[in-house]
Amino acid sequence: MRIAVVPGDGIGKEVIPATLPALTLLSDAFGLDLEYDVFGWGADEWIASGVGLPTGAVERLSKDYGCVFLGALGDPRIPDMAHGREILLGLRRELDLYVNHRPIVLSDGVIDLYRENTQGLYVGVGGTVGRAGVVNVAIDECVYTRDTVEKFVRSCLRRLSEKGRRKVTLVHKANAVPNTGGLWVDVFRKELGAFPEMIGSEEYVDSFCYNLVRDPTPYEGVLASNLFGDIISDIGAALMGGLGLAASASICPETGFVLVEPVHGSAPDIAGKGVANPCAAAMSVVLMLDHFGHTEAADMLRACVGEAARSDAATPDLGGRGTTDGLMGTVLALLGRR
Ligand code: NAI
Repeated sequence: MRIAVVPGDGIGKEVIPATLPALTLLSDAFGLDLEYDVFGWGADEWIASGVGLPTGAVERLSKDYGCVFLGALGDPRIPDMAHGREILLGLRRELDLYVNHRPIVLSDGVIDLYRENTQGLYVGVGGTVGRAGVVNVAIDECVYTRDTVEKFVRSCLRRLSEKGRRKVTLVHKANAVPNTGGLWVDVFRKELGAFPEMIGSEEYVDSFCYNLVRDPTPYEGVLASNLFGDIISDIGAALMGGLGLAASASICPETGFVLVEPVHGSAPDIAGKGVANPCAAAMSVVLMLDHFGHTEAADMLRACVGEAARSDAATPDLGGRGTTDGLMGTVLALLGRR
């Protein structure tokens, strides 16, 4: 299988290259036949040529590749993130990567957070009204279709059920946002009927966030719309020990195409210093391996990343003095010993 590697901007250009030797080592050791090509899409190309996602890129990805491994997009020279929206939101929408899996890995278990990835408040419908360059009214519409909510909820319930998870919580705000919220609640209740082994619950997003921070242990599977899932995943990253540890996989269940990426952004405050934590990027590789059924390789990398993060090689965000390359060097050494 071919992987399209897009390091992107800022620390993406540091953490992604740092993890590629581990990918190659595992591919060779387990005979996985994983090969990659690196694409330079990002801020530099946008500034130089005005191109974010090149014409024909989506078709080429769908035809020749099974996965995108993305770093991060975001550059202080492009404050409106126009290139990031074109590339990242473009890939999510065009490849229909509507299931976003963001595992929250805690010391006593994992919460499987699933975020709908293509609609809701990120659908790009809205506008502004104003005069003389002053915006007086700003509108961003939250749009959900039953078709998308149904296929998202059904796919997530199937994934949770196959993993042996029994508890699933729908996070919504139907009391204040009744139209899309009501649709989500209706679909969730109906789809849950096909999974009698699962115990469903529903929580308003504000009280869910409160409960998650106070005690995450009751949660197993969590389903959320685009904006709520985005926010919950950063709370989850904080519970895990920082953004440097959290990874995500955006999946199209119908085609099997997957885009894996760290949850963090391009971190301009530490970019170029060589101290970004590569664990989230390495855990993105773990999600990729898991997605393609290479469970043994995924488990081995997961274990080595965990051990390296607890070692002297830990980067400053984890309380250590290590570097990006040093931490991944430790991961490679641990992999070599297994
Ligand atoms: P950020 O995630 O880049 O950084 C937030 C804080 O966490 C910073 O203090 C940063 O140093 C730290 N941090 C993040 N990842 C780290 C790592 N691997 N190791 C150590 N420390 C790490 O979020 P921020 O600052 O809000 O956004 C920066 C840029 O990234 C913006 O342009 C934003 O739009 C973009 N962004 C892009 C995302 C993506 O491509 N998926 C996601 C989030 C933000």
